[in-house]
Order: sequence, then structure tokens, then C-alpha cells
Amino acid sequence: MSRVIVPLDVSSKQAAMALVDRLGGQADFYKVGFELYTRSGPDVVRELVERGKQVFLDIKLHDIPNTVGRAVAVASELGVDLLTVHVSGGPSMMEAAAKARGGDLKLLGVTVLTSLSPDEMSTVWDREIRSVREEVGRLAVLASDTGMNGVVASALEASWLRRHLGEDFLIVTPGIRPAGSDAGDQSRIATPADAVAAGADYLVIGRPITQATDPAAALAAVLREIDQASLAS
Ligand code: C5P
Repeated sequence: MSRVIVPLDVSSKQAAMALVDRLGGQADFYKVGFELYTRSGPDVVRELVERGKQVFLDIKLHDIPNTVGRAVAVASELGVDLLTVHVSGGPSMMEAAAKARGGDLKLLGVTVLTSLSPDEMSTVWDREIRSVREEVGRLAVLASDTGMNGVVASALEASWLRRHLGEDFLIVTPGIRPAGSDAGDQSRIATPADAVAAGADYLVIGRPITQATDPAAALAAVLREIDQASLAS
């Protein structure tokens, strides 16, 4: 199984499956986010599972414990492998999620959205935010203590998380850009090799693969870079 998760950031099941067909056997893990899930619902997840693919359902649950627990149970039944839950939903919510988890489902805590600035965080939490890294670390520890299997984090935070939360804690990193590719709207970026060296288990890599003229060739190049980095580390 490869460490690359390709996000299906498209608006229809048809477009999603066309990309899956294009990438073929090289890609075995796909992320389904809000847009596609709102459009195609569990059908797209079922089809991916039927094709033998692993699924990261990135719908960032945040609600009362009972409601989140029920949604987690349904995701488990669907055959989802990774599912996101907001750490700011609180310990009871994460414990309810962990209790409801079944099958092979692993839960990932979302600590601080990368789009949030320290100023915005101060506005929401009504206190001074000295360092985003510190907040990410604090929330990741809480996630670990309340039954989450890992977190979504930028590669820049991965080595701290790996050191403090141990080898079994899953670290999934978006914001990956192979050297020379366009950063787009991502600001805290790392190369695939850097992310692997920092301890990431899975790399979510979208546009550098999906917007390439030849997505399969772009993915093959990323996989080669990861293999070389894994051998070196
Ligand atoms: O195209 P790109 O490689 O930037 O796609 C990254 C994917 O990871 C997108 O689906 C995006 O929504 C998601 N993501 C992210 N940053 C986070 C969490 C998720 O870029 N902090």
C-alpha cells in the first residue's frame, strides 16, 4: 500500500471515477471531502470500496457526542478507513467517536485549520495565541488521550508530533508540493521527501497530481521520491 492519498476534489462521482481510472493501480487511497460527499454521498464511498480502494472520508465531524458517535458507526459500516473529527468538539465527543468506531476505521483529529490565523484564533477563543504550533501540539495530545488514532497536520509539525506522541500515532499531512511545482493557495508546504523524513505516515497530494498533464506519470514521480526518502531514513 502506498503512502499517498489522492483527494477527489471534484464535483461529481463520474469525474471522481474518471480520475481513479486514470491513476489505475498506482493509487490505492483516496480522500472524499465535503464537495463530493455532498453531491454523491455514500455511493462514491461504496464504489471506491468495491474497487478495492481505501477511503479517507474528510467530513470533519463536530457535533454533540451522540450524533457524532452515530455518524462514526455508519462510516465504519460503509468501509471507510480514515475519518476526520474536530478536536475542538471536546473530549466527550472524541470518546463517543472512539467508542462507536468499528471495522478498520481510524479516526483523525483536526487540530487547528491551516486557514486560521493567530488573530482569528484569538477572536474565537478570546485569549492571546502565542504560537499556532503550541496550540496544534496541545490539541494533538488531547486527541491522543481521548482515543483518536492520529491527526491531520502539516509536515512542519510532523516531527514534533512524532517525537511526543509515539510511533503508532498516525500523522496525515496535506500541503505537499514536489520540488518545482506550484504552491497554489497552500502556504505551509513541504516536499514529499521532507514529509516522510519528518515522520508522516500518509501524504495527501492533490493538484500536483490531479492537475498534471499526465496524472499517472506525476504520481509515479512522487512515489519514486517517497521510496528514495524512505530508504534514506
Ligand atoms: O491540491 P492540494 O494538494 O493542495 O490538496 C490538498 C487536500 O488536502 C485538499 O483536499 C484540501 O482540502 C486538504 N487539506 C488541506 N489542508 C488541511 C486539511 C486538508 O490542504 N489542513
